[in-house]
Amino acid sequence: MPVPASDTASTHWLGLAGRACVVTGAAGGVGAEVARQLAAAGARVALLDRDEAALAHTLDTLRSTGATALALHADVTDAASVQRAADAVLAAWGPAAVLVNNAAALYADAVMDISLDKWNQLLAVNLSGYLLCAQAFGRQMKARGGGAMVHVASISGHVPQPFSGAYSVSKAGVKMLSQLLAVELGEYGIRSNVVSPAMIRTPMSEGIYANAGVREQRERIVPAGRISTPADIAEAVSFLVSDRASYISGQDLLVDGGLSQAWLGLIPRPGFEKQDAAAAAGTRTV
Ligand SMILES: NC(=O)c1ccc[n+]([C@@H]2O[C@H](COP(=O)([O-])OP(=O)(O)OC[C@H]3O[C@@H](n4cnc5c(N)ncnc54)[C@H](O)[C@@H]3O)[C@@H](O)[C@H]2O)c1
Repeated sequence: MPVPASDTASTHWLGLAGRACVVTGAAGGVGAEVARQLAAAGARVALLDRDEAALAHTLDTLRSTGATALALHADVTDAASVQRAADAVLAAWGPAAVLVNNAAALYADAVMDISLDKWNQLLAVNLSGYLLCAQAFGRQMKARGGGAMVHVASISGHVPQPFSGAYSVSKAGVKMLSQLLAVELGEYGIRSNVVSPAMIRTPMSEGIYANAGVREQRERIVPAGRISTPADIAEAVSFLVSDRASYISGQDLLVDGGLSQAWLGLIPRPGFEKQDAAAAAGTRTV
């Protein structure tokens, strides 16, 4: 008897068909893949990014698959720019049903050395940018009678990521912003959740993997044994913005291949190492 197609293969499973979805930082990396998956589920997808050339390329790629998509050239740190993007979505498709806050930046810096300008610049993108988009598209969701937001944060909002300037602080802030939105907007039928990735291969992190041996060293410490792809993260985002997550709000889903659970296993503990099965069996027969 043939195995029935999994429900997860159906574009109807997520309940997103026809919905107006906005994805920030959608020109590349995680954002472009989130946009692709939402479009594949039948959603209408607005791609928001400040990188105009990459945005145009991603839009073309998406449209070539038959997707209904729109490019919004905008800077999430600029309230007027975000509002213009929100107005464009409203004019094209009506109020947004979904917002995926994802646009972010990362700079290397020690907390003791970082200039106030650089600190503020990063928070302006990674935290205040999320607020501005939540406000502009949240107002549309209120008018629509409901909606869903997912904010892409990071494992570094849970544990400090040293020498990364304000990055960890921004991501910890995103988590609390999302929790506040979940509480304040719940009565309007709006949900707010966080997806926290660990290591992903994207343009943001590609420079790190250019160093010899880094991929292998990193893979060794992840229980899943591999670095995540944008698709791994987009699957979680798609679920949380969908009707399949309609009673989930104020949560933070770590999509980290188990990394956050692994650190006790990294401490040397003689006598408690993984045993080689064949050797252990051999020992018993002696
Ligand atoms: N790559 C990783 O290993 C990793 C790990 C954990 C969390 N994250 C998070 O995942 C999300 C996606 O990251 P990514 O790796 O795809 O990054 P990326 O650098 O590949 O993409 C980020 C996008 O955001 C856009 N952007 C930046 N500033 C903007 C602004 N002011 N206005 C509009 N657009 C702007 C960029 O143009 C780019 O297209 C981010 O929130 C990041 O912090 C990434």
